[in-house]
Amino acid sequence: MNIWKFYGVTHRDHLVMNPTSEAKTNEFISLLPLKPNARVLDIASGKGEQLLRIVDKYDATGIGIDISPYEVKAANGRASDRNLGDKVEFIEGDGAKHDFEPASFDLAMCLGASWVWGGHKGTIEALKKLVNPGGLIVLGEPYKLKEPSDAYRELEPELAEGLVTHAENVAIGQNAGLNLLYSIVSDHNDWDRYEGLRLRAAELYAEENPNDPDAKPILDRQRGEHDFYLKHGRDTLGWAIYLFRAP
Ligand SMILES: C[S@@+](CC[C@H](N)C(=O)[O-])C[C@H]1O[C@@H](n2cnc3c(N)ncnc32)[C@H](O)[C@@H]1O
Repeated sequence: MNIWKFYGVTHRDHLVMNPTSEAKTNEFISLLPLKPNARVLDIASGKGEQLLRIVDKYDATGIGIDISPYEVKAANGRASDRNLGDKVEFIEGDGAKHDFEPASFDLAMCLGASWVWGGHKGTIEALKKLVNPGGLIVLGEPYKLKEPSDAYRELEPELAEGLVTHAENVAIGQNAGLNLLYSIVSDHNDWDRYEGLRLRAAELYAEENPNDPDAKPILDRQRGEHDFYLKHGRDTLGWAIYLFRAP
């Protein structure tokens, strides 16, 4: 099974590929102190929804990069459907390897993919280089609600190892010289919806595509991930979007 197909199928009914609700997504976008014609970069842009809304609202221009050909194709389709094709471009590639011009963006964001630079701190350092002085850095990052159990550590060793609290995520940004402007946190309802839509999508995909040899592996994997979420993830993992200003 192609892993990008797995994520494409299991997120087919999502607006965005993280637990932030639509209302909270709109809230963080409405709170961006961006001027018209701003240049915006979205690393690991997924479906591209946040970048498209930002470009539309602020009359900005944008570049999104994502490693998944499924997401890039769909995001470019959405851009042209909304007549934003001349203002935003989604490209396929590894966000950490692409050469973006330093200090050339008014906003750089990475929502839910900080592993691209080995974690929250590495992502902050990478994005700091890409924004203009006084530029905005927006990060979507998990945080620790409680200490991960042994079972959690066994199944998600890397994630458990790097998990810090919400306050520590903020402090990592501040220690890197950024000012926190705002943060927005997802609650259990947001998470249940995010995880529930993933399960529903895999169940329906398997029913609708009985001849696809990937349908069963996708469903088996998604059922396992949902079970893990209910037993371990739901009480351990939080999620927030952090809006920082660079010096
Ligand atoms: C959890 S999703 C978040 C997508 C989007 N930022 C959002 O919040 O809706 C993670 C995304 O990271 C992308 N991705 C994973 N590794 C990447 C890499 N090395 N470079 C660029 N994108 C990557 C995946 O294809 C996926 O779209």
